[in-house]
Amino acid sequence: MLLGVMGNPIEHSRSPEIHRAFARQVNLDVDYQKILVPPNKFNTTALSFLDSGSKGFNVTLPHKGDAFLFVHEHSEEALQSKAVNTVVKLNSGKLKGYNTDGPGLLADLEKNKSWKIEGKKILVIGAGGAVRGVLVSLVNARPESVSLFNRTHKKAEQIVQDFGLEKLSAVRAENLEDTYDIVISGSSAGLLESEISLPSKIIGPNTLCYDMIYAKNMTAFQRWCLAQKCQAADDGLGMLIEQAALAFTLWTGYEVSTEAVIVNMRDVINL
Ligand code: ATR
Repeated sequence: MLLGVMGNPIEHSRSPEIHRAFARQVNLDVDYQKILVPPNKFNTTALSFLDSGSKGFNVTLPHKGDAFLFVHEHSEEALQSKAVNTVVKLNSGKLKGYNTDGPGLLADLEKNKSWKIEGKKILVIGAGGAVRGVLVSLVNARPESVSLFNRTHKKAEQIVQDFGLEKLSAVRAENLEDTYDIVISGSSAGLLESEISLPSKIIGPNTLCYDMIYAKNMTAFQRWCLAQKCQAADDGLGMLIEQAALAFTLWTGYEVSTEAVIVNMRDVINL
């Protein structure tokens, strides 16, 4: 089965290793390629990959919006986030776009870490594409509230307006509350420790912190949260692998186990 991931840049992508591990689990012959998309060439690159017999592909930065426009049909998460990270060629020949980033985040938080979202006060930091991709899934998991905080407040307000979800609001620095149950950083660029200008009061002894990116050792956001004495601070490696597992199931119909893949990838990253 020919699959792949499209983006620019793409060299850094770990997706081929992850999908190869899933394919081994279910004894499937999968050729998962990294495809560099030249500037303004998403559609032609995608069409030519599909023409060469591909069943579908993942899409990463900066093309999740292009992929949204490219497909014929959308899953609910893709439709609401206007971003597609998984394209599936259906038997009818039509292309369906999914967004497995949000469900992947949820799976990592709730299944792998047993951090329940229901009834919790959530703070999300950032207002870029990465955050847009996961908000619907977070809100659907029935939190008490999801507050969006962003360096540029207008962008957080714009998201709240675009999504129109009752539990979602934008918060300014001066209105941040004392202690949230869960704090999620969604800045895909990653923050330097010196750039984190959050008040320490948002973190209490029971606060669970999560960075949607991952890094060798720890991300700066994780280190900052631990320095504020949070209960736990994790990174987004599990989310990466869970979103991949959901995509793999969409293409192949096979459910795969993520536990061993997360452990192995952690070793690879820390090498
Ligand atoms: P993506 O689409 O990959 O999420 P993006 O649209 O550039 O990337 O968004 C990155 C997010 O991280 C934004 O919310 C950005 O804040 P601004 O909207 O104010 O630019 C946030 N971000 C990036 N670097 C930051 C920094 N040094 N300090 C605070 N926020 C930062």
